[in-house]
Amino acid sequence: MKAGITLENAIEKIREYVSARQDILARPLYAAVKTFGCQMNAHDSEKLEAMLIQMGYNLISDEREADLALINTCCVRENAENKLYGYLGLLKGVKTRNPEMKIAVCGCMTQRNTAADTIIRNCKHVNIVFGTFNLHRFPELLLSAFESDTPIVDIWKEPDETDLAATEHRHFAKKASVNVMYGCDNFCSYCIVPYVRGRERSRPVNDILEEIKLLSACGAVEIMLLGQNVNSYGRSGRYTGGGPVSDNQTDFAGLLNRICEIDGIERIRFMTSHPRDLSDDLIETIRIQPKVCKHVHLPVQSGSSRVLNLMNRRYNRESYLELAERLKERIPGAALTTDIIVGFPGETEADFEDTLDLAERVRYAGVFTFIYSRRSGTPAAAMGEQPDAAVAARRFNRLLSIVNPIIYEENQKHIGKVLTVLAEKVSASDRSLLTGRADNNALVHFAADPACSGQFVRVKITGCKTFYLTGEKV
Ligand code: SAH
Ligand code: SF4
Ligand code: F3S
Repeated sequence: MKAGITLENAIEKIREYVSARQDILARPLYAAVKTFGCQMNAHDSEKLEAMLIQMGYNLISDEREADLALINTCCVRENAENKLYGYLGLLKGVKTRNPEMKIAVCGCMTQRNTAADTIIRNCKHVNIVFGTFNLHRFPELLLSAFESDTPIVDIWKEPDETDLAATEHRHFAKKASVNVMYGCDNFCSYCIVPYVRGRERSRPVNDILEEIKLLSACGAVEIMLLGQNVNSYGRSGRYTGGGPVSDNQTDFAGLLNRICEIDGIERIRFMTSHPRDLSDDLIETIRIQPKVCKHVHLPVQSGSSRVLNLMNRRYNRESYLELAERLKERIPGAALTTDIIVGFPGETEADFEDTLDLAERVRYAGVFTFIYSRRSGTPAAAMGEQPDAAVAARRFNRLLSIVNPIIYEENQKHIGKVLTVLAEKVSASDRSLLTGRADNNALVHFAADPACSGQFVRVKITGCKTFYLTGEKV
């Protein structure tokens, strides 16, 4: 990177380059952003897309037409990493037809040991690789890539103190994601996230509130607060910004209460909650604040205390069941969803039965199920008894056969009720339907005028499948 080039400078220079290329080609210049992984990554991609728009690019979804492709990677499981190589293979053909094309790779996978160098070495068509700690430097890196053919690798070991400004660009204008914290300090034994996203850092309260006020002013009505473990918000004591600590520091329940005061914001969601840190104050806040959605994503990972201990989750089966019970009792109608891993090293048939039993007791409204994936560098990778793939696959299918019918039964309980749905868009599978989410996060397809898109709509639920409800506007 060149000394003395500021972000604004870099953006301006690329705008000039883009404009000149557009004149030569007599068409706009297109950029495609491909995102793998979680909502954290999806939100980072929104920020990167906003920069691309600022730099004069037109965003498209079809990478075959792109003059610039940016891939935001995930490495939480091995198949997420394989997806990157599959996608880079596809882009190789595109670049052969358009040699001026630039290809950039960023995100969690690039932060792993030598992954960035491996990508550059094996994929000669990649121009830039950068990491999760220096997103804001993307324009400068792109400028360098325009000025030289040498591939650029820029991976930082520590996060920068820079927060990217709130962006008006969102995948759906009415909903906005906001980071409340970055990184993770939990070090669950199977998980790579703390190694690629760094230590836990909470953002100052006032920065978050200012960002949400701005988002509200430009049309957002629903806010999703993002953190790997939002329940420990404010505890890390390592704030990324300055400002007086007294009114700039609170816990997560306090933060929610402050956000509820912001005009124009109608719904507040958050993820993810770690079961160990979910306080009674937070349960009370969810219960009494009408704007806070009655949905808690509470990943359990396993129903066996022995496996939870090996996973370093720092709660056990009993305390989780007690917490789930408390949530359901105190917040009537609350929907609980979860993540479950099967095939963790050493998981026995009896451990797995404990997981099935727990899922039957809690009766989740939604479950994300994963087969354990060995991530080198994590403590679990060094544990003996790596599970047999066939056993893990069988357990995975058995788990689905238990949780899916329960989800269906839970969905049936909504039939006849009227739910408020934030209508997002026309349904992809049936153009006569709109699709959106209820307060409890249930996906709803319903008959209504497409003009209702972006509005809160009262919907009478008339039917359901395992993964969605159906209904009509009342
Ligand atoms: N911070 C969140 C989870 C982030 S990762 C939390 O603690 O709940 C999302 C999910 O991926 C995890 O909940 C876990 O179920 C799954 N996961 C993480 N590492 C995994 C691995 N090595 N193999 C399989 N699943 C994994
Ligand atoms: Fe990974 Fe555990 Fe942190 Fe979640 S809480 S990101 S599973 S280490
Ligand atoms: Fe998310 Fe994958 Fe990174 S799950 S934090 S994008 S490793």
